[in-house]
Amino acid sequence: MIKDFITLEQFNTGQLENLIERTIADKKLYLAGKGSAPLTRQTLAMIFEKPSLRTRVSFEVAMTQLGGAATYLDQTSIGLGTRESASDTACVLAKMCDGIMARTFSHKMVEDLAKYSDIPVVNGLTDYSHPCQAMADMVTVHEHFGKLKGKTLTFVGDGNNVARSLATACAKLGMRFILSCPHNYELEEKFFEDLLDKHPKADSLVLHEPGLAVKEADVIYTDTWISMGQEEEKSKRLHIFRNYQVNAQLLSLAPKHAIVLHCLPAYRDYEITDEAFDANATHIFNEAENRLHFQRTLLNVLMAEGGIE
Ligand code: CP
Ligand code: NVA
Repeated sequence: MIKDFITLEQFNTGQLENLIERTIADKKLYLAGKGSAPLTRQTLAMIFEKPSLRTRVSFEVAMTQLGGAATYLDQTSIGLGTRESASDTACVLAKMCDGIMARTFSHKMVEDLAKYSDIPVVNGLTDYSHPCQAMADMVTVHEHFGKLKGKTLTFVGDGNNVARSLATACAKLGMRFILSCPHNYELEEKFFEDLLDKHPKADSLVLHEPGLAVKEADVIYTDTWISMGQEEEKSKRLHIFRNYQVNAQLLSLAPKHAIVLHCLPAYRDYEITDEAFDANATHIFNEAENRLHFQRTLLNVLMAEGGIE
């Protein structure tokens, strides 16, 4: 049993496929008002070192729907790693709560919370990865195309936390992953080497030319060019990424059936135009909604069933 959800690397294909299938089934039940509430009297502590709309609301609503509660802890009040060590914080929360969700800068901080507590810890985004986002995205792609295997996801933009989790998800779920980014903004070579080591059939590549990268895409994905914590690089990044915008011209080079996804928040007229966003708004907002459905299933498995088998 795996007690935490820190990175997709922890899980095998079958475990991820089960979570996706179960999310789709649970979504139908809850939308029909027939979902169960197995987390009565349980509390999820939600630690945020960075801002959030979707992650905060989806975890909190998921806990409510599961019959439990969530408590929001922001960095300015708890001082994770400054006022109090990760290990002491983890031990105290484990005495009072039943699960922890954390959004931090350093990935090690979430790993430490998991190491020092005996309750489930979920990664709600670190500088390294955003596994809940990638799983909600896979649910969205599965719902739209009816399958994942053999589909191509082209990520246009920065080789960041979201791109890394999507690359891992694609490798494990039989999808082709193409990263189209400026030179020096790729994911690390070591990351791709490790991915190939573990998944020799993984089909992942970097294509710097976006027009070429979207040619066979089923899904075109983008995210902000300036992730949380990179605000000082804003003007430099706006210049470097200017040719990596998802717009009508780029979409005209993609197959007609391709859909655009965005983890949000979107910075319109930077990484995506209004036109490209609005034409895909149904998919993008379903993707946001699926954060709730995936995480509710995940919390059910981790907190009510004891972990991922
Ligand atoms: N996609 C996502 O994680 O959104 P928030 O930053 O608003 O939580
Ligand atoms: N890459 C973005 C994702 C936001 C959900 C960031 O880390 O800020």
